[in-house]
Amino acid sequence: MDLFDAINARRSVRSYLPDPVPADVLHRIVAAGVEAPSGFNLQLRQYVIVDDPALMDRIRPVSKALTGAPAAIVILVEPKAASNGMAFYIQDAAAAMENMLLAAVALAYAACWVEGAVRSHEDLLRDALAVPDGLRVWSLMPVGKPAAAPPRPKKPDASQITHHNRYGGT
Ligand SMILES: Cc1cc2nc3c(=O)[nH]c(=O)nc-3n(C[C@H](O)[C@H](O)[C@H](O)COP(=O)(O)O)c2cc1C
Repeated sequence: MDLFDAINARRSVRSYLPDPVPADVLHRIVAAGVEAPSGFNLQLRQYVIVDDPALMDRIRPVSKALTGAPAAIVILVEPKAASNGMAFYIQDAAAAMENMLLAAVALAYAACWVEGAVRSHEDLLRDALAVPDGLRVWSLMPVGKPAAAPPRPKKPDASQITHHNRYGGT
């Protein structure tokens, strides 16, 4: 799939068919996350692939976006600053997430960036996934075939928010 087709086709899907996702698909999606940029190349991310049905049911209360989802990929981060004192692990997790969302679309699957809900359910996820001390559960994405195709939400036209050479320049 052309990259721009994947970018334009991607939607946040929050309702899934129960069909299992093949393990190689989940691993290819994670591999796309690993290829994402990383501040100072510190590589402070880890990934948990969840496809055990009982475990999926245990983490499903985290977000309505997991409705029906047969699998999920959870991003863990090591909250560590670089040598200059700046911390980029949140941005690193975000870059990996976007790569993985697009990879899912390219492989004809759907997904959703779930982060707000993870912040308020981190303890549940930490227990369910046996996450060790020193790592945070930062975000997750359900993966599966969509039960419904959500409409494109309202977004600005690029021309409304793009400036040429200086703010307001056309
Ligand atoms: C940082 C971030 C956190 C998000 N957290 C959640 C979340 O907790 N639950 C959810 O259903 N969607 C979440 N989303 C998805 C957004 O709601 C979604 O991207 C937005 O509504 C635009 O829709 P689209 O992705 O289909 O373009 C999050 C997106 C981002 C970038």
